[in-house]
Amino acid sequence: MHKILVATDKPFAKAASDQIRQVFQEAGYECVFLEKYTTQQEFIDAALDAEAIIIRSDKADSDVINKAGKLKIIVRAGAGYDNVDLKAATEKGVVVMNTPGQNSNAVAELAFGMMVYQARKQFNGSSGTELKDKTIGIHAYGNVGRHVARIAKGFDMKVLAYDPFVAADVIEKDGVKSVKTIEELYRSSQYVSLHIPANEKTKKSIGYALLSSMPENAMLVNTARKEVINEDDLQKVFQDRKDFTYVSDIEPDCLANLSEYKSRLYCTPKKMGAQTEEANINAGIAAAKQIIQFFEHNDVTFKVN
Ligand code: 3PG
Repeated sequence: MHKILVATDKPFAKAASDQIRQVFQEAGYECVFLEKYTTQQEFIDAALDAEAIIIRSDKADSDVINKAGKLKIIVRAGAGYDNVDLKAATEKGVVVMNTPGQNSNAVAELAFGMMVYQARKQFNGSSGTELKDKTIGIHAYGNVGRHVARIAKGFDMKVLAYDPFVAADVIEKDGVKSVKTIEELYRSSQYVSLHIPANEKTKKSIGYALLSSMPENAMLVNTARKEVINEDDLQKVFQDRKDFTYVSDIEPDCLANLSEYKSRLYCTPKKMGAQTEEANINAGIAAAKQIIQFFEHNDVTFKVN
């Protein structure tokens, strides 16, 4: 019997965990959950005899991978897999997958929740502004970016997108203006919504030049990763521009240095983008089914290493 570990520091909604359990039970697999654990050692211990692991933002580092002697596959129930040591996994012959698209609507909705909250002055009673007729620049037109475009059109925003990996006509067919350079995106968009992954190329790539070029009353919306922001530059932009606001689905490391800008900054205390029952069910069930397909049919469709 294959043993599956679901290791989620931030647990799935109960409905999702129940359904994941049921999918594995019907397939005749053993499934154990490790939730809200407090040390990495607990994760390592729980993974020792697992053949497959489902995680969220949990750190599948080389220790977990190398000590889990029976491990064949890790599925990140979500989009970003920057929390998995791909090199260690590949060296050990462990397949790593993600579940692209399964939680992207939830992330896009949160982006708008934060935008409205900040545009309405954090609901402090004073007059804010509306999103209607403002321009939003979508930085990376993947699964989340497409949902952001759809919702932005519902708000009657003008929508631009920049993505060097997506053909302009694919973007334009959604009624979104494709811009050719990252510089054009930032200098043309009062709102910029970030959807780039965190990797060696993108880390700290959003810096002073781009942010300071944004139009008046600029708002940067980060539901991607804090690592893509150059935080020294972020602090400098807050200092230099009294009209700059930042909303982020994760606290920046430099949060303590931004305490004087509280009225222009909102961060969720825990990453909340994918934290909906629907997204948990979609991503969790997709992960479970991918594992079963892998063991039963050697299907590696969503392999990322
Ligand atoms: C993702 O990459 O899928 C999102 O950042 C969601 O992460 P989470 O599953 O830890 O909430």
